[in-house]
Amino acid sequence: MSFTRIVKNGSVVTPEGVRNVDIGIDGDKITAIGPDLDDTAAEITDAEGHIVIPGVLDVHVHLELPFCGTTSADDYRSGTRAGARGGVTTLIDFAIPYAGDSLQQAADNWLAKARGKALIDYTFHICITRWDEHKDQIADMVKRGFTTFKEFMIYESEGWQSDDRAMFGTLEKMRDLGAMLLVHAESARVLDELIARHHTPELMKKWGARLHAITRPNFIEAEAIQRAVMWSEVTGGQLYIVHMSTAEGTEIVKAAQSRGVPVLAETCVQYLVLDDMVFDRPDGHLYACCPQLKKPADSERLWRGLKEDVVSVISTDTCTFTREQKAMWEGDWTKIPMGMPGLETLLPLTYTHGVLENRMTIEEMCRKLSTAPAQIMGLYPRKGAIQVGADADLAIIHPTSKIEVDPATMEGNADWSPFEGWHLAGFARTTISRGDVIVDDYKVVGKEGRGQWLPRDTAGLVPDRSRALHARGMLAT
Ligand code: URP
Ligand code: ZN
Ligand code: ZN
Repeated sequence: MSFTRIVKNGSVVTPEGVRNVDIGIDGDKITAIGPDLDDTAAEITDAEGHIVIPGVLDVHVHLELPFCGTTSADDYRSGTRAGARGGVTTLIDFAIPYAGDSLQQAADNWLAKARGKALIDYTFHICITRWDEHKDQIADMVKRGFTTFKEFMIYESEGWQSDDRAMFGTLEKMRDLGAMLLVHAESARVLDELIARHHTPELMKKWGARLHAITRPNFIEAEAIQRAVMWSEVTGGQLYIVHMSTAEGTEIVKAAQSRGVPVLAETCVQYLVLDDMVFDRPDGHLYACCPQLKKPADSERLWRGLKEDVVSVISTDTCTFTREQKAMWEGDWTKIPMGMPGLETLLPLTYTHGVLENRMTIEEMCRKLSTAPAQIMGLYPRKGAIQVGADADLAIIHPTSKIEVDPATMEGNADWSPFEGWHLAGFARTTISRGDVIVDDYKVVGKEGRGQWLPRDTAGLVPDRSRALHARGMLAT
């Protein structure tokens, strides 16, 4: 067999387990996996002493997002460079329609942001923000290759909020189209009431940025998840809870899954490794995100939820704001731009605090960071596993050697990191995307603009995919 590249001498995490094999790549695909592969014409990537894992999929990312009165600071150039350094080879962003935009226009806007800049492959979840206008555009978006949609249960002031009628109707469409609805689950009316009650000069002086956590108790997320799960249960539409942060949410999803409700859940790595003690820091306002970091008991429940497979995916919800942008708060927590950088540290945090601290095996980590996200988002088997026929997307990591997190040496545009000073293993020594080396010796070497948009024709764990394809007229009856 002829190869363009052979990855040699590594411990390779495959669907069959960890194996000491070579990986033969021809062009952009993996074409062979086995011992002692040879081709004198091939480039050799030596993975001696390293672990070779499938490229990571970060399926929850916001690049160049207009939000909270500013625009998130990582664009498709810096964001995808950051991802590459953290072994991420695919990301999924959220295309949000600006005022008056159709779903089609939202997708086109986001494609324009990515074009010429992206270093890694990408696609978008399509956000439905005005149900009556957007509902008849959903089927066309599926035909165009977008199979995941998103609704926010909060963010009225951004013009993004959906109500129960929209969620119910969208889930019916998801069922009929074989598509999936992602939901940001927080209970808007009670949250707004709690924010209003606490928005006084006295309380702001006393509690500062901690009010962000005080006004988002766990029941704000739990009630909203419960309601979204109800609409999934009665419609049969595939639901995916994004950035789940609470123990209560985990229990609700677990109970629903055991009743056969088609609900899946994602958490983000910051909910596993940080908690709301960050608000004791003088720069605690930097950590304001949405949903807010919770308590150590929530993190522990989420780790267990991952182990139990109640939580299928770990992502980042990357939404970077610089110190200057975060300073817009001027003592009023409701004005802090919400979100944190994350793409570069997803794999190192999960590897160091998950695998090295024995909370998960390396195979389990690869399922949560690669295989399950690819399967759930309709990108498998092209993405998500080291197997013949898949895209040659690989990350090569050292099993133990640690690097100090230092924003000055990172690829993202943030001038801070929630993990600054932490020592983490699992940064990519080498990242390979569709056969191209894009990170070499921990440095980004790939060409911007090489990333490709990824069309999809399914999503979720649809039991009978052909039924869904028939329903939307894509297969002959
Ligand atoms: O704080 C965050 N994560 N901002 C991004 C928007 C969202 O809700 O995902
Ligand atoms: Zn959200
Ligand atoms: Zn988000």
